[in-house]
Order: sequence, then structure tokens, then C-alpha cells
Amino acid sequence: MATIPPAKPRILVTRKLPDEVEARIEKDYDATLNETDELLADDDIIAGAQGCDGLLVTPTDKCNAALVARLPDTVKIIATFSVGYDHIDVDAATQRGISVTNTPDVLSAATADIAMLLLLGAARGAYWGERIVREDRWGAWSAVYPLGYEVSGKRLGILGMGRIGQAMARRARGFDMEIHYHNRSRLPSGEEQGAVFHETFEDMLPHCDFLSIHCASTPETRGIVDAQRIALMPDNAVLVNTARGDIVDDDALIAALQGGKLAAAGLDVFRNEPDIDPRYRSLDNAFLLPHLGSATIETRVAMGMRALDNLDAYFAGDNPGDLLNR
Ligand code: DGY
Repeated sequence: MATIPPAKPRILVTRKLPDEVEARIEKDYDATLNETDELLADDDIIAGAQGCDGLLVTPTDKCNAALVARLPDTVKIIATFSVGYDHIDVDAATQRGISVTNTPDVLSAATADIAMLLLLGAARGAYWGERIVREDRWGAWSAVYPLGYEVSGKRLGILGMGRIGQAMARRARGFDMEIHYHNRSRLPSGEEQGAVFHETFEDMLPHCDFLSIHCASTPETRGIVDAQRIALMPDNAVLVNTARGDIVDDDALIAALQGGKLAAAGLDVFRNEPDIDPRYRSLDNAFLLPHLGSATIETRVAMGMRALDNLDAYFAGDNPGDLLNR
């Protein structure tokens, strides 16, 4: 007698994903894909989730407590296509018995590359120079204008020395920078590679000619880069953010860039993306990118595969490798 193959798990995939990832989804899942890549409203997510066993979401899907409460009982896992998971209320999911997973590791190199690009570009005024050439406003070469800031020999403070922070440290060492870091816990001495640990963020700030943010957005870190803390940095320091926009107080950062306390900022992430604080657009000393941290072909495929590994493990009855529920 022919055996009936077990039904494939049903999942809702909220955004368009790379072709290779969607091919694997279609092979292994009974999936609703988002061919148009348009953002789904909460009601669309709830409607699409009916009868589903799991959701594959991205940072644009705000899975807050209200949305989690509305999910049908059939949904048992939310796998996010991102390392950051501040868009998901994990506690609310846990209370409903829903597992939550993310995609760490695979995007560390790509994100650290963008942080380094922003650091160099902000220090040297690359965005400004590019615009001058493009707009045909390039004057004669001058010995005194425009001048940026040297990177070599300067001190880089890293806030959050996880995988991305460590990848940033490796890159910055290649540019002869001295590494300082603040993290919840100190790295094992064999992994510090000369980086100077600071018990508190405030202790590190006076050593930051450059500050690169690599911590998660949590209730403890939201708004942590505020006016008082920026004041502790050396004059003409440069701030780089590839983590989350809400870690920085926009009013404080914009005032520091306008007033000259900070020489420049390189920002890949913003509060309320893509509707960012419009004041950033008029700042010549702000190098702005549209959340490109993990945006390489290789990394986006790897993120998708990692999210699927987590879903596969869950539906096979195993513990997903990247389970976030405590
Ligand atoms: C993440 O994975 O959290 C990134 O911000 C998405 O690029």
C-alpha cells in the first residue's frame, strides 16, 4: 500500500526573498510567498497566517504583543530573516508557546564591511566629495580644502563586542586603529587581541576618536548615545551606526553634528526607517546609507538558508539552533 507523505508545514513568508531561498521554501513547505514584496499590514499578516504553522518575517514586520496576540493558535514558530529581533516581542511569543529564531553569524562580515565603509567615508568626506564631482562643483585642487580626518593611529571605540563588533575590530586593526570596547561581558583574554575593555560605556567614550555601534536595540540601549554621553567624546570624533537607529538620540546627534562637537557621522540605520528625521538630509557631515548592512547577494542567501534551517529543525521536532525564547 502506498504511504501518504506527511503534509508539508504551512508557512507565511511576508516579503520577497532571494530566488534560491524561495526555491528551497517551495520544495519543503506549503508556503504563501509575497511575490510583489509589498509591505503587509497587520491585518494582512493575520489573514495570511490563518492555518499556518509558522511565519518567516523580516525587520519590516512589527510583531509586537498586539500582533502576536492575534496570531492563530496554529502558528508555533516565527523565524526572522535578520539578526536583530527588536521588531518581535519575544516574551509575548513565549507566553503563547511560539518559538522565535533569528539569523546570527552569517551577516557579520557584510555588516562590518558597511561599518568600515561608513567610518572611512565619514572621516574623509567621501559622500560630500562624490556629490561635488557629480554636480560639477569641483573647484581647483587646494592644499587646505577640503580636508578630512586620518584614521590610521586613531582610537576606535566599539559598543557591543559580539560577532559584528569583533568583525569590525578585525577590519579596523588592518587600518592601524587602536581598539577599545564596551560590552556586557569581557571577551576571553585570548580573543581580545589587544583591545582595551571598559567596564562602562561612559569610561570608554573619552577614548573614542571614532565610535562604532554594534549592540542590539534593547530597553537598556535605546537612546544610550545621548547629549551627555556625546559630550564625553573627544572633540571632532566620528560616530558610526550600523546597529539600530533608536540607540542614538537624534536630537543630540544632530546638534553635535551641527555644532561641530562631532566631525561627522556615518549612519546605515535610523529611527522610523525609511521616514528618517529630515534634518539628517541637510547635514554635509552625515554620510547616510539606506540600511545596507547585510545587503549582499551572498549574505542575503545565507540569511534565508539559516532561517530555513531553523524552521526545518523546529518542524523535525528538534531545537532550532538560533532559538531566542528564554
Ligand atoms: C538585521 O539582520 O538585523 C539587519 O539589520 C538586517 O539587515
